[in-house]
Amino acid sequence: MNGNRAAAAGVQQAAKALDLRVSIAGVEWKNPITTASGTFSARESGAFYDISRLGAVTTKGVAEVPWAGNPSPRIAETYGGMLNSVGLQNPGIDAYLNEELPCLAGFDTKVIANVAGHSIEEYCAVVERLNESSVDMLEINISCPNVKEGGIGFGVDPAQAATVTKAVKAIAKKPVIIKLTPNVTDITAIAKAVEDAGADAISLINTLLGMRIDARKGRLVLANKTGGFSGPAVKPVALRMVYQVRRAVKIPIIGLGGISCGEDVAEFLMAGADAVAVGTAALTNPTAPVDILEEFKAYMQEMGFATVADVKRAFRE
Ligand SMILES: Cc1cc2nc3c(=O)[nH]c(=O)nc-3n(C[C@H](O)[C@H](O)[C@H](O)COP(=O)(O)O)c2cc1C
Repeated sequence: MNGNRAAAAGVQQAAKALDLRVSIAGVEWKNPITTASGTFSARESGAFYDISRLGAVTTKGVAEVPWAGNPSPRIAETYGGMLNSVGLQNPGIDAYLNEELPCLAGFDTKVIANVAGHSIEEYCAVVERLNESSVDMLEINISCPNVKEGGIGFGVDPAQAATVTKAVKAIAKKPVIIKLTPNVTDITAIAKAVEDAGADAISLINTLLGMRIDARKGRLVLANKTGGFSGPAVKPVALRMVYQVRRAVKIPIIGLGGISCGEDVAEFLMAGADAVAVGTAALTNPTAPVDILEEFKAYMQEMGFATVADVKRAFRE
């Protein structure tokens, strides 16, 4: 065998030896990559790549009844990212169970249902319905405003975050991931509160609260005034929060916020995440989740890592 062929065979052997499996709250994913809620739909994303290639897919937030979302304009570009004020528009749990979920049947991937609510009762009503469904995990988006408490977000107050976690855990028949908002002073206080309340895992970050003004018109760009900031520009904030939360809790962490390439995945794993999600990157390149997976595999081979644990262990601070 000449040198090149021997080298190629070596790479192939390394490729065969890669073990990307991760276990998140007792659920085994074939690799550590999922989609970020709101940036994936079975029908649209499935037209661009084989959904079975991902460790898991996370679906758009679903509420008890349909939500209309916010008025337009509700998307704005900004440096290194975007603002959205979609406002969790969704067709409600009936449509989710009858239309979205059947589109995911037959794919060899785990399904994470992202749950939205305006009250504890609304979150629980959705969880009850999902208990009897084929979803593998629940992701509770606690960035939603609590209408019974004057509209303040569940996720900005440790006591409220704990209350919603306890209520959901009391009835959930699937592992519960609590998705944290970064719009807080001390993310570790919220993370500890939800861990103590029984959360099986944490995902972070949701979008950062932002705004844009059209200086020529002297008007706000988004009809809702503010929107959620996401994309590559938020990655350093997300990474810092994953790092802090890893040192505050023991439960698994799904890290997200601006992930755009294979090495971004490694950065989040090194910061303390056990898996990651790809969001805004898929809005500019629909195949981003699987492209990033391939880049991550190439990075692992190049670095001589065989497992996700090897990547995490290589972090020396
Ligand atoms: C258009 C859009 C819709 C989103 N919808 C949801 C949602 O329904 N539920 C949720 O928990 N997060 C939602 N998010 C937040 C993302 O899941 C993710 O937490 C955030 O965008 C940061 O990751 P990224 O920078 O990779 O996009 C949405 C984000 C975008 C851009």
